[in-house]
Amino acid sequence: MLPLQSKRIVLGVTGSIACYKAADLASKLTQLGAEVDVILTGAAQHFIKPLTFQSVTGRRTYVDQDLWGPEGHVLHVKLGKDADLLLIAPATANTLAKLAAGQADNLLTLTALAATAPLMLAPAMDGGMYDHPATQASLDTLRARGAQIHGPVSGHLASGLSGVGRMLEPAELAGHARVALGASGPLAGRRVLVTAGGTQEPIDPVRVIANRSSGKQGYALAQAALDMGAQVTLVSGPTALTPPVGAEFVRVQTAVEMRNAVLAHAAGADMLLMAAAVADFRPSNAANKKIKRAEGVPTVELAANPDILKEVSQQAGKPRLLVGFAAESNDLLANAQGKLASKGLDMIVANDVSAQDAGFEVDTNRVILLTKDGAQEELPLLSKYEVARKVLEKALSLLK
Ligand code: C5P
Repeated sequence: MLPLQSKRIVLGVTGSIACYKAADLASKLTQLGAEVDVILTGAAQHFIKPLTFQSVTGRRTYVDQDLWGPEGHVLHVKLGKDADLLLIAPATANTLAKLAAGQADNLLTLTALAATAPLMLAPAMDGGMYDHPATQASLDTLRARGAQIHGPVSGHLASGLSGVGRMLEPAELAGHARVALGASGPLAGRRVLVTAGGTQEPIDPVRVIANRSSGKQGYALAQAALDMGAQVTLVSGPTALTPPVGAEFVRVQTAVEMRNAVLAHAAGADMLLMAAAVADFRPSNAANKKIKRAEGVPTVELAANPDILKEVSQQAGKPRLLVGFAAESNDLLANAQGKLASKGLDMIVANDVSAQDAGFEVDTNRVILLTKDGAQEELPLLSKYEVARKVLEKALSLLK
């Protein structure tokens, strides 16, 4: 299942050099499963061709001439009414002014007037134009009317100047679109706390004890929960991944830091999904200076880390549902069942990390969901995102 399957987005593209990034945005949204109807303004067509968008969306791209074609009298109404989201990226100062004034002199602004879906705007223009009181007044008006405005951001501008005016990057805009489109999903109104990645336990200022967790399954859980409408906090150990747009993000390094972050965010959460690979042991006395080879082979003494799940399960204000993960290389079910009971969990997601196509680093996973009532559900090989959706659906059914 693709995250934006059956979602309809009208992507309005107006005349800014950031048009070239809009093609990437249209492609990303399409790859996420959305049906993307692109409308180009006349000025946008000076920068980029309808064919570019048609090629990445696999759908017709609309231009002003279509207004006067055979379906002219209803086209804008149909596009506007069918949309789940109207996203205008890049949005120029001119289009913002027209939208604020309610003008409708081209297909895009007509569609905006006809649309009932949320309006999301990604302004892009030169810094001076953005700062102009007229542009700021347009943005204030649109914001007051409920439009979501993302960016612009600061950096190099096409004029050669540097300042605030760059369109937000397509990946981030796609993230905002996901949050907006997921808002009324099955987890709307729920607070979901997710942990991800492996913890690192310092030996000295340079070296750590780490593990092979990539964080992919945990990040997929956070993203899937956002797509389903949840309010998400992601507590993550060091990973190479970008946190999903819309999640509250807490970066930690050690198991003790993760424990503190989880306890600080656990109260009032509907569920805790503990996907992190928490180090069970840490060096009891990390050296404060780099250990030198010349000093000989060191002995690193270990101390036990807190069991975060166990501790949370004994708290008064604990999340309503506790979900653990068991990565095992042998005796998968027996070990997972033992952890389900000993850690006081409602569900445990068991995966055999000795398989090549499941577990660490790869993008797919093969898991078994074990619940407190003794039920067992074996899922086929799925992407980590699909696993995340299944885990969340099961968790939601347990909550209900
Ligand atoms: O490491 P173990 O297999 O016991 O992990 C099972 C579950 O317990 C996982 O969800 C993991 O995040 C959690 N855990 C924890 N605190 C630890 C170790 C593991 O909460 N110190």
